[in-house]
Amino acid sequence: MPALIAENVTSGYGRTPIITDISLSADIGTITTIIGPNGAGKSTFAKTLVGILRATTGRIMVNETDITRMPGHLIPRNGLVYVPQNDNVFVSLTVRENLEVGGFAAKGNTDARMEEILGIFTDLDKAREKRAGFLSGGQQNLLAIARSLMVEPTVIVLDEPTAGLSPAYTDVVWNQIETIAKSGTAVLVVEQNVERALKHSDFVHIFVAGTNHVHGPQAEIAQLDLAGIFLGRAEASRS
Ligand SMILES: Nc1ncnc2c1ncn2[C@@H]1O[C@H](COP(=O)(O)OP(=O)(O)O)[C@@H](O)[C@H]1O
Ligand SMILES: [Mg+2]
Repeated sequence: MPALIAENVTSGYGRTPIITDISLSADIGTITTIIGPNGAGKSTFAKTLVGILRATTGRIMVNETDITRMPGHLIPRNGLVYVPQNDNVFVSLTVRENLEVGGFAAKGNTDARMEEILGIFTDLDKAREKRAGFLSGGQQNLLAIARSLMVEPTVIVLDEPTAGLSPAYTDVVWNQIETIAKSGTAVLVVEQNVERALKHSDFVHIFVAGTNHVHGPQAEIAQLDLAGIFLGRAEASRS
């Protein structure tokens, strides 16, 4: 059974649904990306998965547990973590303190976990006692990802983790994302860069106007007229 299963999820901010009937799953050890035009509902879906928004219909399962109506603060303990696009670190706290905060919801020895994580994120290791506000934007994004890993999640949801980063640092972040997947995590990434999504992921979902319009293995999606799909040309969506 996939680590994350979303079935027919409908959600939004008020009465009018923004996303409708979205189904998607993610397996341990793989990277699944969601791409699509601005305003398609990618972030709305991510927020619904992690309990910031409530699904009005449908079901969300993590590790075979139904988390659809679970209070948001209990969701990380059940194996699902989320890194928002912006404001994702405590700028006045040091790198080490940010990781400690991430460990509050964790079971077991968080010191050992922190050392393990800093062993992977070597840039952060060198900056342990630095306040997060003094890190570069890319390093802050890595810190946000590292912090979310403190609970040893089964599923990590990343909303545009490389937005605004240089191509070189985008490589650094994507390499870390690949390492995280290989270490036994299901990774779901919202990505605005179609080439990056195709390069790094196993499965791709294209959201258009609040629906999961087209999806499939990376190799299949790479064959499609993506520009046409993004622009809403009907004939482009037939594959
Ligand atoms: N806080 C909000 N309140 C009301 N509507 C919102 C809010 N955030 C986003 N929306 C609307 O929801 C739609 C989908 O937005 P979003 O999920 O952020 O898209 P994406 O992440 O794919 O760019 C947009 O039409 C947007 O205007
Ligand atoms: Mg978004």
